[in-house]
Amino acid sequence: SNTILTDDFGRKHNYLRISLLEKCNLRCAYCMPADGIALSPKASLMTADEIFAIARTFVENGVDKIRLTGGEPLLRKDFPEIISKLASLDVLLSITTNGILIDRHIDVLKQFKIKKVNLSLDTLVSSKFHSITLRNQFEKVIDNLHLLLNNDFQVKINVVLMKGFNENEIVDFVKLTQFLPVSIRFIEFMPFAGNEWDRSKMVSQKEILAQIENVFSSAEMEKLQDEKNFTARTYTIKGFQGDFGIISSITNPFCDGCNRIRLTANGKIKNCLFSNAETDLLTPFRNGESIANLISESIKTKKKVRAGMVTIEEIDDPKLHFDNRSMIAIGG
Ligand code: GTP
Ligand code: 5AD
Ligand code: SF4
Repeated sequence: SNTILTDDFGRKHNYLRISLLEKCNLRCAYCMPADGIALSPKASLMTADEIFAIARTFVENGVDKIRLTGGEPLLRKDFPEIISKLASLDVLLSITTNGILIDRHIDVLKQFKIKKVNLSLDTLVSSKFHSITLRNQFEKVIDNLHLLLNNDFQVKINVVLMKGFNENEIVDFVKLTQFLPVSIRFIEFMPFAGNEWDRSKMVSQKEILAQIENVFSSAEMEKLQDEKNFTARTYTIKGFQGDFGIISSITNPFCDGCNRIRLTANGKIKNCLFSNAETDLLTPFRNGESIANLISESIKTKKKVRAGMVTIEEIDDPKLHFDNRSMIAIGG
């Protein structure tokens, strides 16, 4: 059935990603500009009650999956309150986190039946972790990865690949899946304001697969059935406990199956990760106005592919994305 969450191309948006705040306890260069970002004033961030009320409007219109992002979502002081409220909605709840605060929040995650956690971890080498994040938290993240697995969480590990930084760890990450039941997702580096994206820094789907196929034969490698509305094209090595996939937003976009809509921490919807057009919901919500028609208008202007950047050459043109807010404020 057509709802306010169906776009002009027939895509139904049942997956809402909510960014809880714009701050992080790491400083990954691909996400946060070196000189930081202009933070939204505290008063313009959604409160726990506002997050719940706005999310409920989405759920009433067909959203059945909500992912909490940031910045780092676990830095929200009222994270337990936000989770407990959202858990009363009929949705699959999940989070994407850098993992540093997992041990402090694991009981809350279990209590509110969060079963899936996506963890950002770009390297398996402690010194390289410091050079990309500017913080010495590698051991903490690894400990928390094991804590999650020991508590039966389903864990996906997001690895943003960059030339000259971690592209030589692709096979090591695949080998990690031999004994760990995790899903590794290799991610093509994407452009956002201030992250100095350059196509030459990106490791493409083709290059990722070539490296893996160099070590594992076609008889050992098995293509898996991808998730519905997938971001990752997935594979496994026969006999390995985990699996791996590639998120190729640049060289092989998956927009045909896009079911995602984003709500920023200051209450604006983005109808595409690559779109700098934002629709303010929070101000009208605070004024007591209905937001359903605003959601509908935003969905109706969604483009078929990557906010209108159909070719890779269009992505190369910095004019088309340099004013798209930094990833730290979007949440991926
Ligand atoms: P699952 O729900 O477990 O499939 O996770 P997910 O892939 O939707 O979300 P996650 O937060 O783990 O993001 C992993 C990577 O996929 C990040 O680099 C995101 O920016 C990217 N990603 C997530 N959603 C989209 C999307 O709608 N479009 C594009 N192009 N990339 C996305
Ligand atoms: N390109 C691709 N993925 C990115 N992420 C953050 N910044 C970028 C970027 N520039 C990923 C992180 C995080 C997810 C939400 O988004 O790996 O896990
Ligand atoms: Fe959806 Fe935009 Fe991502 Fe394509 S690039 S999958 S349209 S959010």
